[in-house]
Amino acid sequence: MPVRVCVELRLSPFKKLAFFPRVIWRKLCYICIMQGNSSIRDNLVWQIEAGVDECIGDAPVDRFAETAARLAERQTKQTPKTSQAPKSSANSGQMSPRSRTPEGADQQPMPAPPASQYSAPERAVQSAVAAAGAANSIDELKTAVENFEDCALKKTAMNTVFADGNPEAKIMFIGEAPGADEDRQGLPFVGVSGQLLDRMLASIGIDRSHYYITNIVFWRPPGNRNPTTGEISACLPFVERHIELVDPEILVFLGGPASKTLLGRQEGITKMRGQWFDYATPKLPRPAQAMPFYHPAYLLRSPTHKREAWHDLLEIKQKISQD
Ligand code: URA
Repeated sequence: MPVRVCVELRLSPFKKLAFFPRVIWRKLCYICIMQGNSSIRDNLVWQIEAGVDECIGDAPVDRFAETAARLAERQTKQTPKTSQAPKSSANSGQMSPRSRTPEGADQQPMPAPPASQYSAPERAVQSAVAAAGAANSIDELKTAVENFEDCALKKTAMNTVFADGNPEAKIMFIGEAPGADEDRQGLPFVGVSGQLLDRMLASIGIDRSHYYITNIVFWRPPGNRNPTTGEISACLPFVERHIELVDPEILVFLGGPASKTLLGRQEGITKMRGQWFDYATPKLPRPAQAMPFYHPAYLLRSPTHKREAWHDLLEIKQKISQD
């Protein structure tokens, strides 16, 4: 069945896909990616990476031209009276001097209701705090993350990447953001950097049954860009609640962004790595021992730092056997 769909798509991919709902569009894109010819495949991969997840037509529309036409039409329709009127108070939310008098009050448009005192990013954090705080188990938290709609990254990702490994383990690793492989499989650290991490941890005798692993954001940033401060802030209440619910003895933060975010520090990873910090929240029974560690993707790019990473791994091994 996939092969038949693919043949049709090769002939006319966009026409066949027009008006298909999002989920079907994604599935068909991936069938095409796996089996289609390379130019269609490259085109689809490029579009998915850029965040396209739905096909709504088979001919391009010049929205700029539409806007210009509407503006021109509005200008020709404007009467002298409206063009001389004082700036509208309805848009700005400010009352004009005349409307402040009782006589003028019924002749002026009502002032616009005040805009929310919170910006969209602030509202995203507030809703994350409420949703995360209401979760009383890891399963509930996972559901809350999957239902959270206020992080823009979710719109371009294929899957929510929540966590992997053993939530009962005494050690929890926290990375930065899912990549393409993680997005596809819905699991953290399953791509090349995850494989390096697994090999490093195997060298000190632990595998995923001995540790728990997640990220500071739950969705892949398009094109693997760094997550923005707003995206990290929207996910942070979930990450903090995640740590409280797992209640690990040892935390390892993989890379600068995870370390800085969770320790609230400004130093770079080169300075912080290998040191132990207390990680505490009011709901943790006791602080976890937290260590910033080089991100495995950085070690793949800069193998000379593997020597320091090995030193830090031995520290972690010792801490595991101590506690
Ligand atoms: N890098 C990360 O930080 N997290 C992943 O899950 C994969 C790669």
